[in-house]
Amino acid sequence: MNDNDTYDLSWDEWDELQRPAPARIDFDDVVDSAISRRGFLGSVVAFGSGAAVMGAGLMSSTSAEAQTASRIGFTPIAAQTDSTIHVPEGYSWQPVAKWGEKLFSDAGELSQQTGISVDSSDRVFGENTDGMEAFVVDGRQVIAVNHEYVNTRANLPQSGGEVTSADAVTTLQNMQGVTVMEVAEGPDGWNIVVDSDLNRRITQNTPMTLTGPAAGHPLLQTSADPAGTTVLGTMNNCGAGKTPWGTYLTCEENFNGYFGSTDENFERPEGYARYGIGLEGRYAYEKFDARFDISKNPNEPHRCGYIVEIDPSDPTSTPIKHTALGRFKHENAAAVLAPDGRVVVYMGDDERGEFLYKYVSHGVYTPGGPTSALLDDGQLYVAKFDTDQTGEWVALTPEATGMEAAEIAIFTRTAASAVGATTMDRPEWVAVNPIAVEAYCALTNNSRRGPEFTNAGGDPASAVPNSPNPRDANNYGQIVRWWPAEDDHASTNFTWDLYVMAGNPTVHDDLNKGSANVNAGNLFNSPDGMMFDSTGLLWIQTDGDDSNEDGFAGMGNNQMLAGNPVTGQIERFLTGPKGSEVTGLTWSADKRTMFVGIQHPAAPFPDGEGMLPRSSIIAVKRDDNQPVG
Ligand code: FEO
Ligand code: CA
Ligand code: CA
Repeated sequence: MNDNDTYDLSWDEWDELQRPAPARIDFDDVVDSAISRRGFLGSVVAFGSGAAVMGAGLMSSTSAEAQTASRIGFTPIAAQTDSTIHVPEGYSWQPVAKWGEKLFSDAGELSQQTGISVDSSDRVFGENTDGMEAFVVDGRQVIAVNHEYVNTRANLPQSGGEVTSADAVTTLQNMQGVTVMEVAEGPDGWNIVVDSDLNRRITQNTPMTLTGPAAGHPLLQTSADPAGTTVLGTMNNCGAGKTPWGTYLTCEENFNGYFGSTDENFERPEGYARYGIGLEGRYAYEKFDARFDISKNPNEPHRCGYIVEIDPSDPTSTPIKHTALGRFKHENAAAVLAPDGRVVVYMGDDERGEFLYKYVSHGVYTPGGPTSALLDDGQLYVAKFDTDQTGEWVALTPEATGMEAAEIAIFTRTAASAVGATTMDRPEWVAVNPIAVEAYCALTNNSRRGPEFTNAGGDPASAVPNSPNPRDANNYGQIVRWWPAEDDHASTNFTWDLYVMAGNPTVHDDLNKGSANVNAGNLFNSPDGMMFDSTGLLWIQTDGDDSNEDGFAGMGNNQMLAGNPVTGQIERFLTGPKGSEVTGLTWSADKRTMFVGIQHPAAPFPDGEGMLPRSSIIAVKRDDNQPVG
């Protein structure tokens, strides 16, 4: 896969191209689906007049609107197409950590000509920053941040991006994973505290423990780990989360792309197809590292696709892969406590026609109490959205799925299909409002819906629109939100609506114009990263088409917007540099700094003309040093 065209693809884009030929579905299935769709079309018509799918709160001007409009306390900015960051008047930004920057003073320098040496590659800030969370450890500020994937041309410049040696593989493996780093604010702004004893790199080679229902299962056993309980590394770390007890959750997304086969006739085991595990890995790991050669280690892919817990306060701690949270292309992990103290974790599976999940612990969290079983012993659910704007969390139990508990944890997608979960337009981040009992999920887009394009399980329902995913060719994406019954995130029922359907009312006059809270001043597409701040404002980050042409005209580069959940008002706060995705958001302990991730920018961000582009975390502050979240 080293032809030039693939270098510039984000990992999500690359993965989309690798998808196996979609299953063609039966004509009868299409008709069946169309019948339910006719019922749904009523909602679409109603949507046009602003009633059924959208929340009533978005359609009315109330005193609540007047009261909360002021919460978006910045002057919105225009769309931009240049190679730098823009923030509103009265705000400033600066880089905090850039690809290749030293975490330890003994690391070598990043060179434009030679990249980073293999020996230094796990001593520096990795590439392509994604989800992150901030922690306070002994009064010190620590950021844990994901490095989702690598650009081989940037990291292996001497071979033009070709992966030609075991050292090249190790370098790439080390430039991904997670960075835990202490940061501090001084006279020149925020910087990494080089050599802090809290600094740590977790890579695709770091030993971690497998726990939960699948741990030790024969499908997780390998020649290197006959017990099936210890795995090396974490793969394609996308979004993130934070537990109530102060640990970091990193989410393995498109893990499939790292695996390949040195035997082109290798017959892939059952269960590979649903996860897109193919014969050729994106980075040719399989040629130099047998762990990634599925013809030699066919169970290794079963050991990826989980959520991993990391203790940022203890650099010697062993990360834990929690199989109870299911195996899929995990986007992020939005954890919240139910009123009785049970831990609820909402999770999206980012692939066309896949599902939205939640996990509910059996035990309860008490401050200072034991936490070790809370993410291992619990119940996994998948969401079913009904056309009447109610919904149900369906428990993935052996009785409901016909699968054993360990199989549900390993082949979670199959279990969810078995209970008829609602197929979704690529669930990305879930965000939970800290001041209201509600949660939001970004459904980024799904431009390839149709009979030819079911999900990888061939679920017929995924070929046609449904209520929370109402557009046939969905180039823009939408955000669905739900209110759990009895104000309890652990409850199995909910009501829902669409917070926003992105679109372009300057170009379209149909559903593609978007919902009423989209206008010429806030155009965006492909919502992806999403976090609430402590005041209950929803921050929306985009990973979409930044061509600024045709249906995307007026949207400019990828961006970050703030949304008022009560009024539906959405305003643009930040624009990223050309080519980048804006992803990852957290705040300093005093909320006076917002840390924002900039992934895969194009040159010359941020170092100027002639320099390689560098994925970075930036700090955004108000010039008057007032809180920003
Ligand atoms: Fe890594 Fe679905 O974004
Ligand atoms: Ca994402
Ligand atoms: Ca995305």
